[in-house]
Order: sequence, then C-alpha cells, then structure tokens
Amino acid sequence: MDKLIIKGNSQISGSVNVHGSKNAALPIIVSSLLSDKSLKLLNVPNVVDVSNLIKLLKNYGVKILHNKNTVNINPKKIKNLSADYDVVRKMRASILILGPLLSRFGEAKISLPGGCAIGTRPIDIHLDGLSKLGASFEIQNGFVVGNVKSQLIGNKINLPFPSVGATENILMASVLAKGETKISNAAREPEIEDLSNCLIKMGAKIEGHGSKTIYVQGVTNLKKAQHKIISDRIVAGTYIIAALILNSKLEIKNFNTEYLKSLINILKKMGANLNVNNNSIRVLKGPKLKSTNLSTSPYPGFPTDLQAQLMSLMCISNGKSKIKETIFENRFMHVPELNRLGAHITVEKDTATIIGNQIFKGAQVMASDLRASISLVLAAMNANGQTTINRVYHLDRGYENIEKTLGSLGVEIKRKKN
Ligand code: UD1
Repeated sequence: MDKLIIKGNSQISGSVNVHGSKNAALPIIVSSLLSDKSLKLLNVPNVVDVSNLIKLLKNYGVKILHNKNTVNINPKKIKNLSADYDVVRKMRASILILGPLLSRFGEAKISLPGGCAIGTRPIDIHLDGLSKLGASFEIQNGFVVGNVKSQLIGNKINLPFPSVGATENILMASVLAKGETKISNAAREPEIEDLSNCLIKMGAKIEGHGSKTIYVQGVTNLKKAQHKIISDRIVAGTYIIAALILNSKLEIKNFNTEYLKSLINILKKMGANLNVNNNSIRVLKGPKLKSTNLSTSPYPGFPTDLQAQLMSLMCISNGKSKIKETIFENRFMHVPELNRLGAHITVEKDTATIIGNQIFKGAQVMASDLRASISLVLAAMNANGQTTINRVYHLDRGYENIEKTLGSLGVEIKRKKN
C-alpha cells in the first residue's frame, strides 16, 4: 500500500481550485440508472470512490465514457440487477443503487455495503423508507434483495434522523413512483440540492429540496440531460484549515462559500483572518488561534467530515478545545495517530478534549479513514521533522491529486508506492 512522506515545517502560498464534490457526484452518477436516456456530467472529481462506482455501474452493463472530469453515462441497457461484494465493500454509497433500480425495474440485489470504518453505519432508514414506497426486502447470504410487486407508490415518509444517504435513496426512488411522495425530516446537505437539481434537469418533479420537507410528484419517464457537479465543500474546508495550520497566505477558489458557513463562523471565532467572497476565500496570516468548543451536526451545522481536520488545528491553537461528535460513533480514529505526532487529545464517549499549544513532531502514522487521513497530512505539514503516513489509499477516495496539489503550493511531499 502507498505511503506519503511529508517534510514538516512547510509554508504554502498561491491559490488552489477546489475540485468537484465526491458526495454530490456519487448519488448523481447513480441517479442515471433511473432513466434510459443519457446523462452527461461535468466537474466530476477524479477520485477512487468515483472510479469504483463507475466500475460498479459498468458491471450492471451501463455504458460509461470517463474522460478527465467529464462522465457520459448511457444506461439504456442493464444486463443484470445484482452488485457483488468485491465492488460494494469498498464503498458504502453503493447502497444508493437500490432506490433507482427498484423504481425502474422493480428488483435489485446488492451486497451489504462497506466504506469507511466509522461506526456501524446501518441501512435501516434506507430500507424503511423504500418499504413505505412499496418495496420489500430480504437479507440473503450478505445481500440485500429488494422487490416491488408492480410499481413503487408515493407515500409520506418521516425520517427518524436526517440521513444523507437515506434521503438520497428515497428521493431517487420516488422520482418514478406513482403519485406524490413527501419526505419529512429530510437531510438538507448541499449535495442533496445538487442531486435534486440534476434530477429536475432529467425531468423529475421535485420541490422543497434543501429544506426539511421534500415533495416529489412521480413521472413516467425521464429525458437526456447535462449537469455540472458542485464543488467539494469539504475539500475547500480542508485547504482553508491547511493554510491556517501553516499560518500561510492562500486563496481557495471555485466553490460556494455559503456551504461552509459553519466552518467559517468557527474559524472566525478562533480568530482566523479570512477574507470571504461568494466563490472564494483568502486566508491571511495572523496571530495564534484561540480554542473553541463545538458539536458536529447535520447541515447547516458543523460537518462531521471536517471534524478531524479542525482537531489538528486545535492542537496548535491556544487553550483547551472540545469536539463532540454526534453523527457517527467511533469517528475519533485519528486521535491516537495525532497523539503519536505530539498532540495531547483524550476521548471520553462522544467528546474529544484537545489540549492546545502542542508542537507536532514527525513520526510514522497509519491512516484509518478518509478524513482521519487528511488530518494527519495537515499535522505532518506543520510538524518538526519528517512524517510517513501509511495506508494512504483512503485519501485517494476523496482528494484529487493531493500530493500534486500540496506540492504545487510549496509542501515537500512524495508518494512511495509499495
Ligand atoms: C454521508 C456522506 C459522509 C458524511 C455523512 C454525514 C456520502 C457519500 N457520504 O454519509 O461523507 O460523513 O453523510 O454527513 O455522501 N444511519 C442509520 N441508519 C441508516 C442510515 C444512517 O442509523 O439507514 C446513521 C449512520 O450510522 C450515522 C448517521 O445516521 O450514524 C448519519 O449517516 P448518513 O447521514 O446516512 O451518512 P451517509 O449517507 O452514510
């Protein structure tokens, strides 16, 4: 497995363009399965989760042309309706295939999903919602097997928790269901708005996306469409934190700063010097940041996907900070590794306490999940001495050309292939 070797005490400068959003691209690529007409997608990030999903769709017989950041999908012919463990285990988002396949073909079989090892991550909300639309499920030998008698029928679905994936799955399924579907307590993440906007271009009738209540009027067929994926707010947030952890001047461009309000507010509270425009942020140098306390929560709250990165920054800020993780259990796997780099963090139940004013020192560390991996990269760039990060494949799942981008900004970083 590849390693990243990072020389510490880095300074960065210049600007970085944020690439397309992985978490928007995944459901949108899957949504193509609803239609027999082609879908052209622009600004698709070149990350491993996307190429794995494309492999999965090709397994189904879907014709896909993938060239740099453009993906052309022709889902006219599907040759089988079963997805194998080997592809699905690598990515939890594969579960999103259930909704579109059940809606269009009335059957689907998919291996129980994998993905980041953060908590148990059940799929009960997905299956309960799809059942309310008329699907029935059985678990057979590690596979979820779904069937629909005749056609999915719209219903009122109240989610017990605003799960991002479940909202997307139910939303996609309801596009071709008969009549109206009302999803209450829906997730409001910008990626759901982007999926809805793409579905609308494909001919779906959706209202209320981006709010807690989404209404879908079922349609009988969809049309050819083209859509540009939004930029990745988590990648943007990561580069903002990178500039702050290195006390460097950096411009982060090409993303909607509205989607990062919660991070911007926290960073400003910590004393960060940020120049915020509609589509870019300029991070300026400044004095040492102050500690703060926060809880992760569903959008528009502070995203769990930026928790690990912010924790690295808190380690070198003044004072004691606390982070409460309310979305996933077991999402503190970066803590022991940050401590190896000189951090002083303790975890009790769902709360991490970060003692500030620490000095990171280079060491050998192990990446455990996607966002944990990038938090180690951030700490390593700041550290005294060299850090080797093992098992970096998680990084490639969500960050396009990470070492090339950081290298171009001035970081001494190289990949060692194993
Ligand atoms: C998505 C994102 C992920 C992000 C997360 C929360 C993608 C591809 N991934 O993941 O990067 O960290 O949102 O913002 O978009 N849950 C259940 N039952 C279910 C579904 C979820 O109990 O059926 C629980 C999960 O275990 C977790 C919580 O709900 O504790 C949030 O999960 P969810 O919002 O569904 O996250 P994902 O869609 O998996």
